[in-house]
Amino acid sequence: MSVLPIVIWDDPVLRKRAEPVSANSEELQALIDDMFETMYNASGVGLAAPQIGKSIRLFVMDAGPVLEEEETDRGPTVLMNPVIVDHSEEEAKMEEGCLSIPDIRDDVSRPVSIRIRFLDRTFQEQEWDLDSWPARIVQHELDHLDGVLFTDHLSAFRRRVHRSRLSKLERGVMDVDYPVSLKGRTEIG
Ligand code: NI
Repeated sequence: MSVLPIVIWDDPVLRKRAEPVSANSEELQALIDDMFETMYNASGVGLAAPQIGKSIRLFVMDAGPVLEEEETDRGPTVLMNPVIVDHSEEEAKMEEGCLSIPDIRDDVSRPVSIRIRFLDRTFQEQEWDLDSWPARIVQHELDHLDGVLFTDHLSAFRRRVHRSRLSKLERGVMDVDYPVSLKGRTEIG
């Protein structure tokens, strides 16, 4: 397994609509293992394939570190071709960050609970009801598969607040302790 560089925010791959995963392969399973290693190395709770430069509809997550004690810990999970089939009317604001947008966090409003249908890493169809942080992570990562970043959900005012930090990211100025890819150039954080 290896740690892959994480693509930083103004790379076009983060803005593309990713293609469905169609077939299992040794390469796909190895990619999934590498994505888990990359996510854990960066202390993340979710990582979508476009963030390591692969424009396919796949993400990995492990909500363990952010769960409350009474919440179900589903452990390391792979979601392929995920679809939100239902969601609550109720929305809540929670503070999000993104491994592709280091040094920036902000409150994002999203539905509190969702029902998600997806293929697991053995290509079995699953349907899960999620709320709280697991629902939040799934919605954030699913956005990545559609070329959407959490900053897109912010008001014009909040985006202006972050503008100088975002332009620093574009210049490669950031405080990270994981490998990143800047416009195709790999650097070790
Ligand atoms: Ni993200």
